[in-house]
Amino acid sequence: MSEPTTPTSQPIPVPASKSVPANAAMTRRNFLWLGWSALVVFFTASAAATARFFFPNVIYEPSQKFNAGPAKDYPMGVSLKWQNEQRVWIERNEKGFTVFWARCTHLGCTPNWFADQNRFRCPCHGSNFNIEGDVIAGPAPKPLYRCAVEIASTGDLIIDKAILENRPGFRDKSPFFAQYQATV
Ligand code: FES
Repeated sequence: MSEPTTPTSQPIPVPASKSVPANAAMTRRNFLWLGWSALVVFFTASAAATARFFFPNVIYEPSQKFNAGPAKDYPMGVSLKWQNEQRVWIERNEKGFTVFWARCTHLGCTPNWFADQNRFRCPCHGSNFNIEGDVIAGPAPKPLYRCAVEIASTGDLIIDKAILENRPGFRDKSPFFAQYQATV
């Protein structure tokens, strides 16, 4: 009869498939960090996009209003002083000032003033406008526009190109006509 076996003090071997290498634990930790980092990036980007929504894309253009200098300095007739810089003509007569927007109502070219013919002529397709801005020849469909104009307390001409009018009965009154009679 054989004797019963007694347990030995040797450690029980762990199957290789159940052992966890140290570098595998690190990989899991890194994976968690990666996940949290991705979430943080996502929510930060979302918050930034939401904040950006409150600042609309606006193009701030320069003001259409400008000071054309002392009214008394303008001679009678059509002045081309601001044609290139502000695209307006300033016409002075014995009653006051009218300011035309120097843009043809056909396709937007800049007409030229011919004092000897007392008319504006467009070089692009031949439209002609009289001193009132009315079409007298060519394809332009409507009169030239006039800009709002006033004379400041300083005596300067203040012109606003954002306010335009070309309808008879409206274009001849304030703010599209500024009465002015020189005191000297
Ligand atoms: S743009 Fe002036 S006539 Fe055509």
